Amino acid sequence: MELYGATLSWTSSISLPIHIAQPPSIWGIKRFRLFCLNNIKNVSDETQKDNRMVVSITGATGFIGKRLVQRLHADNHRICVLTRSKSKAQLVFPAKEFPGILIAEEPEWKDCIQGSNAVVNLAGMPISTRWSFEIKQEIKDSRISVTSKVVDIINNTQDDVRPSVLVSATAVGYYGTSETNVFDEQSPSGNDYLAEVCREWEARALKVNKDVRLALIRIGVVLGKDGGALAKMIPIFMMFAGGPLGSGKQWFSWIHLDDIVNLIYEALSNPSYKGVINGTSPNPVRLAELCEQLGKIMGRPSWLPVPDFALKAVLGEGATVVLEGQKVLPARATELGFSFKYPFVKDALKAILSS
Ligand SMILES: NC(=O)c1ccc[n+]([C@@H]2O[C@H](COP(=O)([O-])OP(=O)(O)OC[C@H]3O[C@@H](n4cnc5c(N)ncnc54)[C@H](OP(=O)(O)O)[C@@H]3O)[C@@H](O)[C@H]2O)c1
Repeated sequence: MELYGATLSWTSSISLPIHIAQPPSIWGIKRFRLFCLNNIKNVSDETQKDNRMVVSITGATGFIGKRLVQRLHADNHRICVLTRSKSKAQLVFPAKEFPGILIAEEPEWKDCIQGSNAVVNLAGMPISTRWSFEIKQEIKDSRISVTSKVVDIINNTQDDVRPSVLVSATAVGYYGTSETNVFDEQSPSGNDYLAEVCREWEARALKVNKDVRLALIRIGVVLGKDGGALAKMIPIFMMFAGGPLGSGKQWFSWIHLDDIVNLIYEALSNPSYKGVINGTSPNPVRLAELCEQLGKIMGRPSWLPVPDFALKAVLGEGATVVLEGQKVLPARATELGFSFKYPFVKDALKAILSS
């Protein structure tokens, strides 16, 4: 690690060169000093076993990112939150609860990325909105521009300070929708709007320098309490006494928040995780089954179908992800031996609703 001319290294297993060009402009002198002091103190107890990473994360303030940061922080990894708004990120990650986390707005992303040995790219405008022409453009552009920026920074970094891994989000929307087909990582892309967004999003990530290990995670519908589609669906479900949504035959390729975070975490540290990896549970369900399980857990008999318009009212055209859907299997994660904490939707929902 290079700090104003002093060259140190945090781990012997991972070469971790950090070059911090203008630290005070990024973190403020006080925090930066604290950062340096901590690092220098920690250098002395480095061992071969010390696998701490420095991870820069875009979209860290979102539903998945927040939990990822909590996990990485709890395991003592160093984190740079790459955000559009420092003040918002400071509210999400108060210094008291997350000491040592660095928060950087766009002009400082370069310094953070060059000081990291891993990057996670999760940023993108939420799709659960009304899709006007302008919003559709923004949904796509937000993903493409952040991914391009991150990739350009990585590619323009000297070999010796370049992060060695990029884990970049994409979505199962890549495959298009179908009630009958089963998709895995080898399947072709669909031909609807979300498939096009995912293809272009992935294409930007694929431009990363070939020496950087790239894991593209095609994420399914993430289930958790404090965000994502489920949190929005539950009140509607309650209002309509909890019957199936739409026809109920559509496939719902879901994953519990803990599992997607574990998969990203594993992809950061395990060199076998590269290329496209579906981030879905091994047991997708038809929507009717999801609603039935949800109804049982919430003590709501599944008897009145929830009309499409109600779901569209809260999810906007983003509801197509739920109302049309696709059956996606995590073939690569299974091959890699990834262990799902919640392989079945019943257990996932129980855990979420009882927490
Ligand atoms: N949750 C799911 O079910 C799911 C399913 C499939 C794929 N994904 C993908 O996984 C990624 C993370 O999902 P999430 O649910 O955690 O997302 P999220 O809660 O909506 O958060 C995404 C983050 O992206 C940044 N962002 C928002 N609007 C942006 C814009 N217009 N331009 C640039 N950045 C913007 C924000 O960070 P700052 O404000 O700090 O910049 C925000 O916290 C997303 O790209 C999403 O498409 C999620």
